[in-house]
Amino acid sequence: MLPFSQFDRDGRLRHLITLDGLTSDQVRELLDRAQAFLRPTGETPARSRALDGVTVANIFTEPSTRTRSSFELAARRLGADVLNLEIQLSSRVKGETVLDTIYTLQSMAVDVFIVRDAEPGVGQFVAEHVHDHVSVLSAGEAHLSHPTQGLLDALTILQYKGGFRDLVVAVVGDVRHSRVARSAYQVFSALEVGELRLVAPDALMPDAGEMPGTKRFDSIEAGIAHADVVMMLRIQKERMADAAIPDPHDYHARWGLTKARLKLARPEAIVMHPGPMNREIEIASDVADGPHSVIRQQVTNGVAVRMAVLETVISNRRRRQDA
Ligand code: NCD
Repeated sequence: MLPFSQFDRDGRLRHLITLDGLTSDQVRELLDRAQAFLRPTGETPARSRALDGVTVANIFTEPSTRTRSSFELAARRLGADVLNLEIQLSSRVKGETVLDTIYTLQSMAVDVFIVRDAEPGVGQFVAEHVHDHVSVLSAGEAHLSHPTQGLLDALTILQYKGGFRDLVVAVVGDVRHSRVARSAYQVFSALEVGELRLVAPDALMPDAGEMPGTKRFDSIEAGIAHADVVMMLRIQKERMADAAIPDPHDYHARWGLTKARLKLARPEAIVMHPGPMNREIEIASDVADGPHSVIRQQVTNGVAVRMAVLETVISNRRRRQDA
């Protein structure tokens, strides 16, 4: 069997499992497409028939609010039929394997599987086993990758900062367990962000050697000094042993993004957070809701980015079928 590739024979995107290996042109094309789907607040969201006749299935075995609802809205706004599998109610709890679940849904003419799983490798495994016309999009893989989140983060920065090369971007908090941070690293590397900082206590820093080219800081004050972008992360308790979970008060005191600390960043710095936020732990409420926060714009961009990815893989599939 050939080694797995998320690209088709013509080098076009078929699956989206990781941002690793995407060129800056490929990323920019997705961001451009996403931007074209955005409308001013209050206006009717963009719609198209690009996914007419296409069926999309959301298969999430980890909790999700934003990612799942935005994939669903994205697919519906492009005219797709959408199925949300309630995994607690499905046969997986009766012992059915992931593949049997996938084959069952494939027999119902599902064309795109959107997969979130706490286990590494599930998205790729599914992608290796589906029919040629079927695409698999990751909606979060263990601590490893969350490609559409990386794209929406890049789009948000582009909107507020106009580019990437001159920026100082600080990723702050539980970097070690964060798939958001890893996808951010991949997309920012492709886009050649000026300086990427990892800012975390020792226990929450990735292993040495991971994410080469970044600068590491063990204090939030030093880490966000003169930053243009401050990206806060949630403590991923579900990926830690109980004894390793930091005390929320201590964590806020040493690592929380407060108004006072934010003054250390550039005056026009933007504050990002993928959600769900733990207010008063990694981020103070008045910062989350304050003038520097672009957190709600990130959510808006999430729908547009997922529309762009869905439209891309389906139009690439049609090209293959027409060839
Ligand atoms: C993140 C996730 O699930 O990876 N949330 C999201 O998708 N917006 C981050 C998190 O859970 O902290």
